[in-house]
This record gives sequence, structure tokens and C-alpha cells, in this order.
Amino acid sequence: MLALCGVMVGCLESVPMSSDGNASTARRGAGAHSIAVIGGDGIGPEVTAEALKVVAAAGVDLATTEFDLGGARYLRDGEILSDDTLEQLRSFDAILLGAVGTPEVPPGVIERGLLLKMRFELDLYVNQRPFIAAASNGSAGHDFVVIRENTEGPYVGEGGVLRRGTPNEVATQGSVNTYMGVERCIRYAFELAHGRPRRHLTLVHKTNVLTFAGDLWQRIFDEVASQFPDVATAYHHVDAACIHFVQDPGRYDVIVTDNLFGDILTDLGGAVSGGIGLASSANLNPARTGPSMFEPVHGSAPDIVGTAKANPTAAILSAALMLDFLGESAVATQIRAACADPVEGSTTSVGDIIASRVAG
Ligand code: IPM
Ligand code: MN
Repeated sequence: MLALCGVMVGCLESVPMSSDGNASTARRGAGAHSIAVIGGDGIGPEVTAEALKVVAAAGVDLATTEFDLGGARYLRDGEILSDDTLEQLRSFDAILLGAVGTPEVPPGVIERGLLLKMRFELDLYVNQRPFIAAASNGSAGHDFVVIRENTEGPYVGEGGVLRRGTPNEVATQGSVNTYMGVERCIRYAFELAHGRPRRHLTLVHKTNVLTFAGDLWQRIFDEVASQFPDVATAYHHVDAACIHFVQDPGRYDVIVTDNLFGDILTDLGGAVSGGIGLASSANLNPARTGPSMFEPVHGSAPDIVGTAKANPTAAILSAALMLDFLGESAVATQIRAACADPVEGSTTSVGDIIASRVAG
């Protein structure tokens, strides 16, 4: 195991616990990776527990610290993600998140205040979402990765409202695209594509309508492409890409796209790759100026909480992405192999079966 955290474990000892008992340390081990675990809302805690079970079965030592955050916590004492908690999170090697959001809290409060705040404040500028499907019944199978820009676009919250609730109401919500933000995301995608056998990268946007943002994305894409002459490139409008995702996903290797297009496309990616219950994601700070965050693409699914129906595979595969980023690629590959053959059953039995495959 790569000893990334010798210093960090020391830091963990001195992490101030908030007076409200925000963090509780589960276990620590010398040389273990220090992981902040945010089970969150709905099925989040259920699937996260299975992910940790599988990582333990694979023999990787994690020093986990649980953070009680999400809609339920907000309703209890008003905390969404305080600056103090954010500072605590910065000292970990990685963050493993289940899901956040609860129907009792208006949409946007927890999403913006917790999930998006972490993405922005920890500078998690790449959202990497892999999609794999084996060939079956006439479909050729696919293996592609979507690189979604994760700190800009319409997610920034630019805009506002005037005369709310009147017939003359005005609402604007802009898309923020900076040269720096787009360039670093596109460069990451080229580097990823360069390391894969097919060496192919597709830019997905809507340059025929979003002419200002699209022009910036296309020019930067072309500029970075000139530095990667052995990566073949393509461009697809996002609406056309939706058709290809359904009819011919095998054409894709790596895709790079903006925050909102990436959000929508990756739900579709999940739907055409065995279902959203298998879709994993990595919110990466590739510059490693802080911890990266790993979460399944699915949400908190409050309708099935407590029914044992939640598929933990997406969370388990997200933990595998975390292990990749922590330098534990061999174990990550082993976990992915254990998930390749789909498992059916209750949340805990799926976790148990995958855990026994990695252990055996
Ligand atoms: C995702 C989710 C989030 C997003 C929500 C919960 C804010 O849908 O990670 O894809 O829109 O990014
Ligand atoms: Mn989404």
C-alpha cells in the first residue's frame, strides 16, 4: 500500500471535533488511508456501509471518520456544511459520500450547501464517471468515461430573481466558463484518453446555440488537442450524443463536457450501462491540494430507504475509484472484477457476495 497518509494520520489526531459531535472516529491504523465518510441521507448510509465492507474484505486499511451531514442533520440543528466542518474535511486523504438530499428540505438547500459547496471549496474540478457494459443480445458492449467539468457552468449559481411571485417576475441563471477552468478539465481528459488503448476523446457541447461558451470550449479543446497528436478527437452536440448513448455507445472512449451536460448525460450513461445502481463517480482534485470525493451517481432515493432494495454496487465501485486515486490500483481492479458479474439481492447480501469475491 502506498503510504500517502503517514503525515495525515498525525493530522487526524489533531483534528478538532466540533462541539456538536460532528465527527466520530471509527478506527485507525498505522499507515491507513484517512477517509471521511459522509453516509448522508436516504439510502446513502446503507450503500456506504457495504462499500466499506468490501474495501475491508479486500484488505485495505482505512482509518474512517464518520461525519453526520445531510438533510436529517440540517433539520436537527441547522448545520449543512460549516466552515469548521469543511476545514476538518480538508485534512483527510479522501471523502466517501453516500447521497444527500431529503424531501423534507426544499430542493437546492442541501445540494448547494453541502455537495456543491464541497465540489467548489475543495476544487474538485473533474467529475469522472466510467460506464462499462459487456456485449449482450446484439449490443456490442462499451467502455467509456465521461469527464464532467465540476466547478463551473450553470452550477456556479450566477443569476438572480426580480419581482419574485409577481406576474413580472424575472429569473436569470447564467453559465460561467473560465479559460482556466475549461482548460484544466480538457487537459485532464486528454491525459486520460492518452493513457487508454483507444486514445480517443469526444468534446460534447452545444456550440450551435451556446455560441459564447461553446466557442471557448471548442477553441481550448483544439488548442490542447494540438499538444496530444496521438489522441484522435471528435465533437458531438449534446442532443446527438444522447442518441449515440442509446444506439451506439461503443463509439465512445473518453468524453469531456460541461457541468450540466455532464450531469444529464451521466444519468443516461448509467441507464444504458446496467442501471444507475451501478454508476460510480470520482470528484477529483487532480492537483491534490485537498482530498477528492467519491460518490455513487444515484441520489438518496428516499422512496426505497430501509427496504434493503438499494443496490450498493455503485457505492462499491466509487470506493474502487477512491482506491485508484489513493494509489491502490491493484485492489481497485480486484474490486471492479468482483462487481463485473452483476449480483442481485438485498443491499447487505449484495455487499456480502462482492466482499466474499474479493476476499476469496
Ligand atoms: C450528481 C447529482 C448532483 C448534481 C445533485 C444532487 C446536485 O445529480 O452528482 O449528478 O447535479 O451534480
Ligand atoms: Mn446527476
